[in-house]
Amino acid sequence: MRKTISFQTSDAIGAALLVLALFLAGCGGSSTKAVTVEKPTGEALYISYCQICHGEHGDGPMANMLKAPPPDLTLISYRRQDGKFPEEQMRRIIDGRDNIAGHGEGDMPVWGATFHQSEGIEDETVLKERIDMLVKYLESIQRQPEE
Ligand code: HEC
Repeated sequence: MRKTISFQTSDAIGAALLVLALFLAGCGGSSTKAVTVEKPTGEALYISYCQICHGEHGDGPMANMLKAPPPDLTLISYRRQDGKFPEEQMRRIIDGRDNIAGHGEGDMPVWGATFHQSEGIEDETVLKERIDMLVKYLESIQRQPEE
């Protein structure tokens, strides 16, 4: 994508073109690029915050630097006894602020607190919405393991 813009006309038109160019550059991007927009998608959040450890199948670039291996998040349902996607539990694991057994002592970051502190998201509704988007995204990528 060409990003050079001529400002020969007037500054106002130039500025408008710049805004348009930034908009177009944002749209054409590949899906592996971190996206920081007002209202991100679950997939974008996953790519920005989770892929570094969980990767596509528990194989993110940071995976072997961790004490406990990050699980393959496409097999959450498969690993549950009833084979169902544990939506409410996921919400609590990702939020992490109320410690539930087995989580919180590991390397898995507490996202409720992270989104709150590092991004200055004060609004509990926005926080919940983000966690919700992640949960929905995770639900959408569940699969059976390959034989
Ligand atoms: C620094 C590495 C790291 C990052 C980044 C990370 N995780 Fe994790 N995650 C782990 C580890 C390690 C475990 C397993 C041990 C534990 O629970 O602490 C885990 C466990 C989980 C589980 C539990 C899976 C199950 O079957 O019970 C879920 C769900 C999860 N992560 C979701 C996420 C989401 C969503 C994000 C991004 C918002 C994320 N993780 C980012 C390391 C990470």
